[in-house]
Amino acid sequence: MAYLLGQNELSHRLPPSPKDFLGDTMSVQRTLCIIKPDAVEKRKQGAIIQHLLDEDFKVIAMQQIQLSQTQAEGFYAVHNERPFFGELVEFMTRSPVVVIALEREDAIAHYRKVIGATNPKDAADGTIRKLYGTDIGENAVHGSDSEENGLIETNYYFKGHELL
Ligand code: CMP
Repeated sequence: MAYLLGQNELSHRLPPSPKDFLGDTMSVQRTLCIIKPDAVEKRKQGAIIQHLLDEDFKVIAMQQIQLSQTQAEGFYAVHNERPFFGELVEFMTRSPVVVIALEREDAIAHYRKVIGATNPKDAADGTIRKLYGTDIGENAVHGSDSEENGLIETNYYFKGHELL
């Protein structure tokens, strides 16, 4: 009976996990998803969250918020010299967004694959931006571009105790 078995005996009976083949080459990472105003206005937030759950992302925190100008400018500060910065801030503050902290093995790379290219016109079929985005400005979702930025961006919106 399973509950009478020691740890070693029980582990013999468990199905293999990816780590049994890949060792520690894969790691659990956090990334930040923002469902942008265009997708929320189109009521696609439920479909996008389901899409992410079906891709094995775990939601560790989520909130719907109306970004202030200061919040949007701060979040996208890295782009503040770009010609589209004003347009980007105006768009992101136009109506509510849904901000989601996600966790998964290899979350950064997998999330970027699932959302597709920045411009929905270049995104692969079946990706979130292809399905729900309109153009390079109104592209349905934001994605973190590195593990470090995944943590920085998650911490921008959520306090440590809010992350499950
Ligand atoms: P995001 O992943 O949120 O990160 C920065 C955003 O800037 C990007 O998605 C695009 O929506 C936006 N962006 C990038 N290039 C342009 C552009 N040429 N015009 C308008 N918005 C842009």
